[in-house]
Amino acid sequence: MFSIDEEGRLAALREYAIMDTPPEAAFDRIVALAADLFDAPIAAMTLIDSDRQWMKSIVGLDGNETPREHAFCRYTILGDEVLVVPDAEQDDRFRDNPLVLEDPNIRFYAGAPLRLRSGHRLGALCVIDRTPRAPLSEVEKRRLQTLANVVVNEMDLRLMAERYAMATRRAEAATEAKSEFLANMTHELRTPLTSVIGFNALLAASPDLPEREKGMALKAKTASEKLLTIVNDVLDLAKLEAGAAEVGGEPIDVGPVVRSAVELFTERAAEKGLALHLHVADVLPRAAVDPARLRQVLVNLIGNAVKFTAKGEIAVSASVSGGEIQLAVRDTGVGIPEQNLGRVFERFEQGGAAISREFGGTGLGLAISERLARQMGGEITVESKVGHGSTFTVILPAA
Ligand SMILES: Nc1ncnc2c1ncn2[C@@H]1O[C@H](COP(=O)(O)OP(=O)(O)O)[C@@H](O)[C@H]1O
Ligand SMILES: [Mg+2]
Repeated sequence: MFSIDEEGRLAALREYAIMDTPPEAAFDRIVALAADLFDAPIAAMTLIDSDRQWMKSIVGLDGNETPREHAFCRYTILGDEVLVVPDAEQDDRFRDNPLVLEDPNIRFYAGAPLRLRSGHRLGALCVIDRTPRAPLSEVEKRRLQTLANVVVNEMDLRLMAERYAMATRRAEAATEAKSEFLANMTHELRTPLTSVIGFNALLAASPDLPEREKGMALKAKTASEKLLTIVNDVLDLAKLEAGAAEVGGEPIDVGPVVRSAVELFTERAAEKGLALHLHVADVLPRAAVDPARLRQVLVNLIGNAVKFTAKGEIAVSASVSGGEIQLAVRDTGVGIPEQNLGRVFERFEQGGAAISREFGGTGLGLAISERLARQMGGEITVESKVGHGSTFTVILPAA
């Protein structure tokens, strides 16, 4: 019966995933326009499935499905032309059709195929009357076909939107899987490490243990603490790179966050004989960031400043410039050679093995901080001169 690639046609129809979906305004509008334009009591956008005709949109009739063998449109999809039946009672193909013999008593039918670029015809845009009519003129046929082409365009747009949404859903699912993995990893690594640290601390404090063994336990404790720091940093960075870290939030005052980060270093700075200054501008815009994450950034920067400065001062300031919040950490420390300035934000970058041996650290602090700042919608800039000191500035958009 079909001179068409029915299998390919049905596969194409499935791809659109449009059968049995609820009405959509885009299609309803075109069908209403067709009825209006042709002054027809009935108009429909039909799709021909393997054994049924289903209407995505219809005006002038109830119900949205008929058996395929009753469908006028099953003939329309056999060719590329607009099919016109001026009087169904005079047409051998339709004379005995129940839709002609009984309600809705179709007499006139004109349908334009919904033709895909691949050539498959999925259904038709048709106008129907209960009384016979003159055949359509060429201009009228062209109009109906143009409307049918608009229907196909809408179907394509719908398909693309659906594909896009699916890709987004997949990406979200992947991110979720990654962050779940990281959360599990974090737990699995931290739990045993924490008990290693705890038991070594107990051993080191035990009165019955000889001094030599106590010293070993203490070394094991220090080493496992260092390992925990690395594990925390690596997992944190992985989380940030998986896009699984939450850094945003309700608008907050940044002043108190800066203050609490600075206070953390009061003692250490005093121990090293460093002056630690803080200046917070009287009026500061708020920032839409997670305070704990912002504090983490500042603790990294101030920690570095204290670590890499032997004498002089550390000055932390919070100010506003050009509508942006600027949190600056300035030190009078060793400084960073110009050729290394571009690399300090890279992972495991420590400005040479000598530095990492001398000062300790994982070389991940700045990489984490820079990514955090970027995800907060801001950035971190650095200025430095060897022997004179460095200034790291966190720039945050005002909320
Ligand atoms: N305030 C600073 N003064 C001098 N060098 C710095 C400063 N901050 C960072 N650096 C350089 O950048 C490197 C990377 O810093 P970071 O990522 O925090 O790693 P870490 O602190 O573990 O070494 C440091 O090892 C150091 O060489
Ligand atoms: Mg650091």
